[in-house]
Amino acid sequence: MNIITAPTELQKQCQTWRQEGLTIGLVPTMGFFHEGHMALMDRARKLCDKLVVTLFVNPTQFGENEDLDKYPHDFDGDCEKAESHGTDLLFAPEKSSMYDKDHATWVNVPELGKHLCGKSRPVHFTGVCTVVTKLFMLAQPQIAVFGQKDWQQLAIIRRMVRDLNIPVEIVGQPIVREPDGLALSSRNAYLTQEERAAAPALRKGLVKMAEMVKQGEQSAQAAKAFLQTDYASTLPMGTVDYLEIVDPDDIVPVETITGPVLAAVAVVIGKARLIDNILIEV
Ligand code: PAF
Repeated sequence: MNIITAPTELQKQCQTWRQEGLTIGLVPTMGFFHEGHMALMDRARKLCDKLVVTLFVNPTQFGENEDLDKYPHDFDGDCEKAESHGTDLLFAPEKSSMYDKDHATWVNVPELGKHLCGKSRPVHFTGVCTVVTKLFMLAQPQIAVFGQKDWQQLAIIRRMVRDLNIPVEIVGQPIVREPDGLALSSRNAYLTQEERAAAPALRKGLVKMAEMVKQGEQSAQAAKAFLQTDYASTLPMGTVDYLEIVDPDDIVPVETITGPVLAAVAVVIGKARLIDNILIEV
């Protein structure tokens, strides 16, 4: 596996591969790999000739009081995992090589970023879209794989790619979970033992709410009230940031459930802000 830090080197290598007729698959990450990242790599590996994984804790997608400085990292472990999952090139740039001091260009999909995570993290998706666009411009992959745990991010990237005619196929990879249902996340590392024991309630509540909707509950308000009450008893140490039922493509809250919806939650438990979601197909 080749490890590259300079954006121009990534660009050069990918250009060579394309000239040789090889297809490129991209998996953008912020590192501290777990099975969820590995699933993204394995999926991409099957869909391309050359697999490029990027490892960059992108500062522009973190707000002022968020965990940029504390974000967990394990560069050597990540290199081993990426290599053992068939990565051809790991791109791990310095912040200064990705953003000039006078960086002034931003990519934004405001309509899809208004709700869910965008509400409490106002700069987040502009940072994500900007860095992902830069990575697409550098690697010019034919396919790129993103996890469905960050459903809103995936929907925004799909829309950005469509609206800007970026020639890349976006592939969504299902959430990977612990045996007790907790969605894998690098931020699970922040949980204490007690918090970790309670955290699966996040998923359990979503499943119960989905069942209620499938049984015929059409009022989003009633379904959300049910989940709020459930979390109050099952996750008393958690603070709900949001708990919403939205259209899965436009990420706009729905009032009456008459078709497929996405139920999505963000709950702060101790030092961790955990997100999860469930697609409810009625
Ligand atoms: O999902 C992530 O890890 C990040 O938001 C991404 C897509 C790598 C952009 O920094």
